[in-house]
Amino acid sequence: MPYQKYGLVNTRKLFADALARHYAIGAFNFYNMETLNAILNAATDCNSPVILAVSESALKYMGDDLLMGMIAGKKIKQSDAIVLHLDHGSSYESCMHAIKLGFSSVMIDASKLSFDENIKLSARVARYAHKHNVTVEAELGVLGGVEDEITSSKFGFYTNPDDVEKFISNTNVDSLAVAIGTSHGAYKRNNPNEKLRFDILSEIANRMPKLPLVLHGASNIPQNLVRKINSYGGKMEKAMGIPAAQLRRSVSMNVCKINVDSDNRIAFTAAVRETLLKKPSEFNPRNYLGMGQDAVYKNCVNEIKNIMQSDNKLK
Ligand code: G3H
Ligand code: 13P
Ligand code: ZN
Repeated sequence: MPYQKYGLVNTRKLFADALARHYAIGAFNFYNMETLNAILNAATDCNSPVILAVSESALKYMGDDLLMGMIAGKKIKQSDAIVLHLDHGSSYESCMHAIKLGFSSVMIDASKLSFDENIKLSARVARYAHKHNVTVEAELGVLGGVEDEITSSKFGFYTNPDDVEKFISNTNVDSLAVAIGTSHGAYKRNNPNEKLRFDILSEIANRMPKLPLVLHGASNIPQNLVRKINSYGGKMEKAMGIPAAQLRRSVSMNVCKINVDSDNRIAFTAAVRETLLKKPSEFNPRNYLGMGQDAVYKNCVNEIKNIMQSDNKLK
């Protein structure tokens, strides 16, 4: 079913406004009713646009019908500015499948292919998606973490600013994920003073001022939540993310979409651990999953206000 019937929107107008008014839109991953509710409630209460991100493995976990049934059940309106986005689409078929289901935005992640193959596949996805008025994100460069076994171009693992213009004009994608030192997961840094490559980011932003840029692997890994996990029996001692100030600085250099999954996983897990350890007789999943939902809601509200700066941006 076309995404418009679910009240969803694509990213085009949202990114144009984010670029013009210097904020980013949070792309929060979800994988069940609780995380979906938490993200949507946070966006509503902050009067903020939001991107609901679904990875291929999360789609498999929920199943097509249950996922789209939940989206239909939320009775979303176009004025809510909600995007349903396929995160890290790995093939043309996967993107086409998501578009047919009702996704309004897809990422084709061909960053592990050669530059020319990345162009070919991203352009093919963009041609199909644009026929359905669905927007497309592609990626250039290689992030650390889940992608770091792959070696990239002469520019090392980072996005080479020299490649960007050619890539965009040959693919016609709507936004670009760049590699400037972020990485997926909870263990991004050994040293809190490490900095993102703002020199690369500003070069790309200067050369392509209208291009919406995306940061993957951008969780902040809130240390109070990591401590909570560790104090209630967990083991995540060295978890460390991207400082909020660096994320905000990236927003001033045309980053319009910041992807967050790990922070909400940590918030959820900390709340469930705390509840179960404090109340050993608890055996009603609604009670501890409800605490997980509240914790994800609070994290999203905090990040929408203090990292994305997208609160009070809806007309
Ligand atoms: O970027 C990757 C996201 O964190 C999704 O991870 O495939 O485990 O759902 P997942
Ligand atoms: P984190 O692991 O930093 O939350 O990144 C999530 C992400 O990039 C999803 O695409
Ligand atoms: Zn990602």
